[in-house]
Amino acid sequence: MRILFVGDVVGRSGRTIVTERLPGLIRDWKLDFVAVNGENAAGGFGITEAILMELLDAGADVVTSGNHVFDQREALVFIERNDRLLRPINFPPGTPGKGAGLYRAQTGAEILVLNVQGRVFMGDVDDPFRAVERELEICGLKRGADAILIDFHAEATSEKEAMGHFVDGRATAVIGTHTHVPTADEQVLPRGTAYISDAGMCGDFNSVLGMDKVEPLQRFLTKIPNSRFAPALGEATLCGVAIDVDEETGLARAIVPLRLGGRLSQAEPALWLGEN
Ligand SMILES: [Fe+2]
Ligand SMILES: [Fe+2]
Repeated sequence: MRILFVGDVVGRSGRTIVTERLPGLIRDWKLDFVAVNGENAAGGFGITEAILMELLDAGADVVTSGNHVFDQREALVFIERNDRLLRPINFPPGTPGKGAGLYRAQTGAEILVLNVQGRVFMGDVDDPFRAVERELEICGLKRGADAILIDFHAEATSEKEAMGHFVDGRATAVIGTHTHVPTADEQVLPRGTAYISDAGMCGDFNSVLGMDKVEPLQRFLTKIPNSRFAPALGEATLCGVAIDVDEETGLARAIVPLRLGGRLSQAEPALWLGEN
């Protein structure tokens, strides 16, 4: 089974490359399940219901998020009626929406998707490790879920690596999001969990983390805000990782990074996992 995880979609240029390229990727790579992080999809901040539908129509099976999930306040409402949008599971009790969902892949497999937020150099949230442990107790690999995908939305690579090892052999993949810059540490951990510290964003890399570079630079130089952050509008790179899953065990056989279009484009992995 093949799963694609697509990193934080930033603004219009990020949405454009995802909606343009995802249907072809699903077809050509015979993808069975697609998760997309959409926390920055609406003008860089949050997600609207229309944009959620756009990402689902393009082929996402689930849209994860992070600290920006409720920047568009309508998300507080529609997250309750659309279970294809997840917010971090370790937000305070009573927060609208949910952080875990079981979704059916093309193969019929049940995929548990967990969205969790880190707490190192980020706002206070509940312990992400205990939150994940609770979910794995309720619905473990091959005890309710055929595969388990964890979007760990966190700032510190140390916290992300620790999470990878914490669930190694108990989840299919731990994919880091939030920092927007793709890392080069993709690997299958010793017990079979695919891992990367950051999948990278879908956005214009002639920018500061997807935002037009002028205002962020100005704030580093002067500490005086001049205008609001706005997404950079140049051609985006679609960043993500593809994971080949052993259906017997639910663990990963391989993880392959993907960077298509724009300034970070790599040669398209000519069928990353061999033809089939
Ligand atoms: Fe983000
Ligand atoms: Fe974030």
